[in-house]
Amino acid sequence: MTSTVIAGRRLRLRLLERGDADLIRQFYGRLSSETIYRRFLSAITLPNEALVGRLVDIDHHDRDALIALDEQGIAGVARYGAAPSGTSHEVAVVVADDWQGRGLGSLLLRRLAHIARLRGIASFHATMLGDNRRAQALVLGLSPRTSMHFEAGYLEADIPLRLTG
Ligand SMILES: CC(C)(COP(=O)(O)OP(=O)(O)OC[C@H]1O[C@@H](n2cnc3c(N)ncnc32)[C@H](O)[C@@H]1OP(=O)(O)O)[C@@H](O)C(=O)NCCC(=O)NCCS
Repeated sequence: MTSTVIAGRRLRLRLLERGDADLIRQFYGRLSSETIYRRFLSAITLPNEALVGRLVDIDHHDRDALIALDEQGIAGVARYGAAPSGTSHEVAVVVADDWQGRGLGSLLLRRLAHIARLRGIASFHATMLGDNRRAQALVLGLSPRTSMHFEAGYLEADIPLRLTG
């Protein structure tokens, strides 16, 4: 567990654990429908129990998540999981509405990328809405070699994690 201060507020950072289902349910209850839509690319209201189960299905190697906690619970999550193709790891970030635009998303993503690199993960892949400027800035900031293209109406980003080669 580490801590950081953003905009004068202290946040604790730690890896998500399998026993954190209540924290995850509470977090999604804190998010606006637009934030949930941008994260899941579909108009769900709250994650159902099957999705909550998948969100806490962490093995600290191929599937992991870093959370930031404030006095209300989770304030942001960055996660990765092995993609079905096996060639890359899917990454996603979501930050509580009252924390957005203050640097928390980029902090979580940078630290998660560092953890993934140490585990030998070579690249992340992210899918986002074409108008999601903040998410685009986030993935472009992660690697100068990030490449993006549109596919089936979504913006697909390939983010190499290796520092060279
Ligand atoms: C996308 C999201 C995770 C970003 O987290 P955040 O804490 O709001 O973002 P940050 O404050 O760290 O800013 C990220 C970048 O966006 C830039 N940015 C902030 N507001 C912006 C805006 N309105 N337009 C364009 N860029 C913007 C910042 O300058 C920063 O770029 P930098 O790192 O080069 O300075 C967050 O907004 C969110 O949860 N959105 C809804 C869910 C979502 O879209 N997830 C992404 C799917 S993978």
